[in-house]
Amino acid sequence: MASSYAKTYAGWKADPEGFWSDAAGAIDWFKTPTRTFDGEDGVYGRWFPDGETNTCFNCIDRHVAAGRGEQAALIYDSPVTGQKRSYTYREVLTQVEAVAAVLLGLGVDRGDRVIIYMPMVPEAVFAMLSCARIGAVHSVVFGGFAANELATRIDDCRAKVIISASCGIEPGRIVAYKPLLDAAIELAGHKPAHCLVLQRPELSAAMNDGRDIDFADAVAGALSEGVPVPCVSVGATDPLYILYTSGTTGQPKGVLRDNGGHMVALAWSMQHFYGVRPGEVFWAASDIGWVVGHSYIVYGPLLNGSTSVLYEGKPVGTPDAGAYWRVIQEHRVRVLFTAPTAFRAIRKEDSSGSLIAGYDLSSLRALFLAGERADPDTLQWAEKVLHVPVIDHWWQTETGWPMAGNPLGLGLLPVKHGSPTVPLPGYEIHVLDDAGHAVEAGALGNIAVKLPLPPGCLPSFWNADERFRSACLAEFPGYYKTADAGFLDEDGYLFIMSRTDDIINVAGHRLSTGAMEEVCASHPDVAECAVIGIADAVKGQVPAGFLVLNSGVSRESSMIEKEVVALVRDRIGPVAAFKLAICVKRLPKTRSGKILRGTMQKIADGQEWKMPATIDDPAILDEITSVLTERHLPV
Ligand code: COA
Ligand code: AMP
Repeated sequence: MASSYAKTYAGWKADPEGFWSDAAGAIDWFKTPTRTFDGEDGVYGRWFPDGETNTCFNCIDRHVAAGRGEQAALIYDSPVTGQKRSYTYREVLTQVEAVAAVLLGLGVDRGDRVIIYMPMVPEAVFAMLSCARIGAVHSVVFGGFAANELATRIDDCRAKVIISASCGIEPGRIVAYKPLLDAAIELAGHKPAHCLVLQRPELSAAMNDGRDIDFADAVAGALSEGVPVPCVSVGATDPLYILYTSGTTGQPKGVLRDNGGHMVALAWSMQHFYGVRPGEVFWAASDIGWVVGHSYIVYGPLLNGSTSVLYEGKPVGTPDAGAYWRVIQEHRVRVLFTAPTAFRAIRKEDSSGSLIAGYDLSSLRALFLAGERADPDTLQWAEKVLHVPVIDHWWQTETGWPMAGNPLGLGLLPVKHGSPTVPLPGYEIHVLDDAGHAVEAGALGNIAVKLPLPPGCLPSFWNADERFRSACLAEFPGYYKTADAGFLDEDGYLFIMSRTDDIINVAGHRLSTGAMEEVCASHPDVAECAVIGIADAVKGQVPAGFLVLNSGVSRESSMIEKEVVALVRDRIGPVAAFKLAICVKRLPKTRSGKILRGTMQKIADGQEWKMPATIDDPAILDEITSVLTERHLPV
């Protein structure tokens, strides 16, 4: 099929409001918006400002009313517990109404915040949708974060209720959530009124009298009462959720998502970008704690009337590198979306893809990759073993849906390996130099999106308009700064090369090295430190910390290194994958005192590097090189 991309993109550019007003027709509105965009409202304008709707209604109720009630909405597949269960749209509706009734019973009102700190279980999805149903604002916190990170989020959003579980299950270990939850509430200044705790058979959690409520008991009670809970009418611009993501400091940014624009954008992307039809099975192998999980495990597929797979497992080790192929075969998955790291992990275990031969993958139409740079080598391997289009696409928590990609739904464009292809309608992408001037095709620069951002993108940070302005809009007036660097080639293909801030991407997880430095520096024996991301064959990048100890410290440096590793795991969480701390005598700096992190990274990765002209003391780089060689880095 010839691609209709050029026509669609040009159509959007000629009349953005007309484009999004048409797209809004895919959504059921309680009050149809009379205006598509108000440039005077909010930080840079708001979409569908006078529309009213409900996200849960659009995801569930309307499909049941339209005859989709007996179709599977959610397939829970959990190799780590051995459980599999399919829920029809009607069953999801029943469960969601019950959880909504429980929340209402706990006094959760429209606009109140509810934190969801849960593993990949169906109850987590019901919890998200039930918040949407009653107009409460959910904030899902990824299970791999430590108590301290959870506490920061509790304080920032002032959660009234927290919904959690007794445990998560990682291969070879049970992660007890409840002690982390208790510790977080202890640390937080703001105390939630109640915690709803799902007791899982793998581990029972101790409950705090008066505060904690058994999730299953409460839901069973609501189900037996069977009181219907209608979907409240919320403003299109009212918040649906807050999702915290790493910023350049230890303080995470609360990315805000609205109801109306979010639905319009996701519904458009499901059909026109991912090319998925209602009734088809879509599988985003991610976690609901990340934006991919929000947009493409929960809201996107359900808005589209598709079936979504909720997979509680890994690409390898649960039980082997054929796990993804089994899920595709068993559930007739049409489109798979995951991070390149998952394919690197599979390839490492099964380099020829031999396990694929044991499965029927005929249902699979395409593989989409995002979350980190898709290295051409991994991408080509996936193409070779799967025999379907493998589509790199680029976006971030802030945007909520892809900014650039090869639009399967509009007909694919020719592939250039290493490029996520072209900007999608809604996004006018420019590459700017540091002074904000457009650079020539092929030249590297800051990737920026011309304002206004399209529907679905963040209107601001939660309760922090000024921080949003200064972090994202101030540097290039009239543009949103993505903090990614790259270039557009002569054909208009985009290439994403690196970040312009301190964010690193570890196994598709976005982490701040600045936040890790704050933790390292809090060790009493550490005088100063630098954390950089170094190349890793499976995870893309892993953090490495370089520590300078206080003078007079006589303890073994290996002990201190171990303590710092434990401290980062304890304060940020296992997801940081911070396993390498190295004591050095000094850090390389410029004469003005700036740590030369970029040069250290090049040395650690075994890349060619040049002695920076501004270096204070060149001998320090020799010291760093010899310390790394002692540790067999680069390997
Ligand atoms: N709850 C608690 N702990 C978690 C967790 C969760 N939800 N998710 C990960 N962790 C822990 C892991 O157990 C691991 O702990 P360990 O140090 O004790 O081994 C640590 O956090 C790092 O996890 P991870 O980065 O997932 O590494 P891994 O070595 O366990 O697995 C991959 C590597 C590539 C298999 C894995 O990252 C993966 O499946 N990635 C798929 C892509 C993906 O989901 N990307 C998200 C964005 S799209
Ligand atoms: P997150 O907000 O966790 O989704 O992380 C977003 C960041 O991941 C982006 O700003 C990029 O740095 C990186 N990223 C996501 N997708 C891609 C991609 N396809 N290619 C290169 N980098 C990507």
